[in-house]
Amino acid sequence: MSLTMVASAHIPVLVKETVEALAVQPGGRYVDCTVGGGGHAVAVLERSSPGGMLLGIDADPQAIEEASSRLETYGRSVLLVNDNFVNLQAISYKYDFVPVHGILFDLGLSSLQLNGNGRGFSFQHDAPLDMRLNPGQEVTAADIVNNYSEDELAHLIRTYGEERSSRRIAHRIVQERPLKTTLQLVRLIEQVMGGRRGRIHPATKTFQALRISVNRELEYLEAALQQVVSLLGFEGRLVVISYHSLEDRIVKQFMQRESRDCICPPSNLTCTCGHTASLRLVHKKAITPSQEEIQSNPRARSAKLRVAERIITQDEHYRMVERLCSAPEFKANGWRKPVSLRRLRHAFLTA
Ligand SMILES: C[S@@+](CC[C@H](N)C(=O)[O-])C[C@H]1O[C@@H](n2cnc3c(N)ncnc32)[C@H](O)[C@@H]1O
Repeated sequence: MSLTMVASAHIPVLVKETVEALAVQPGGRYVDCTVGGGGHAVAVLERSSPGGMLLGIDADPQAIEEASSRLETYGRSVLLVNDNFVNLQAISYKYDFVPVHGILFDLGLSSLQLNGNGRGFSFQHDAPLDMRLNPGQEVTAADIVNNYSEDELAHLIRTYGEERSSRRIAHRIVQERPLKTTLQLVRLIEQVMGGRRGRIHPATKTFQALRISVNRELEYLEAALQQVVSLLGFEGRLVVISYHSLEDRIVKQFMQRESRDCICPPSNLTCTCGHTASLRLVHKKAITPSQEEIQSNPRARSAKLRVAERIITQDEHYRMVERLCSAPEFKANGWRKPVSLRRLRHAFLTA
């Protein structure tokens, strides 16, 4: 491995906590929706051995290349797919990877993407204003910066970057454009905001906003989360690691909503929603990295890990019992209906 590769290698965040939160077990089947450099995937495959399987998804073709060389030794236990996790359900069905014991999202970007690979994600390296995870996507950061109206730019930078100076930055962008490179944008923001204040570079929030918009990150996260419940098997785990408050809010609200039997507004006297809980919160609060981890990997400092477990409604349970009871191995085992939860669980885990 060359020195530059060592310097830019991605260090996975909260690895031990992730494996525990996923309750990884030998023979389990897991989907890593953001396989990246394969760091979490290795940990999951190690713990799920023997017999474990992993479906790894990433929107970035370079990440898939990286993951496939890192995970080569696991052979047929690994299936890698270059696609967006917004298509999670379709991918899982296509590859007959349902139900699963766990689904992981480790959101954001890997160090390989940030460390100046010429795709414009980082404000520390000069590159074209691109920011697409997949070169097949239509819209680049340059398209947004050079074509949106001042109001649209201000709104975007405010909403996705939570940047208070969004109006002033948008105004200056419109005055100075066309902008072609990251460094042009960085210089412009530095002029508007003055130099670095505190630990955060003044361009951080604007770059975050553009990246979220180019890759429709929040929209796709919400859509993907909606698909996990139908893929998780009995007591299957959903684990999400997020790195900023906009993502974390979506994850938290999704898990809270799905862990409630009624989601009617509090003003309703009787329930009209008919919603039933499909998840159980494993921890009420997010898990965060230790000081030790943050010191050795500063990228971990904003990480929040949330975990929920699939629960099954009586109706679903009944249908699952019906299906399992008609399987030949159940008859061969001499089991009779109703199958206890413990047996059902065992049946799922050894299926
Ligand atoms: C923080 S990295 C994951 C690192 C990985 N867990 C590891 O240990 O190496 C996030 C990855 O998610 C990918 N990604 C982000 N949004 C995505 C999406 N909507 N669909 C698929 N992959 C996505 C990025 O390309 C990146 O490789």
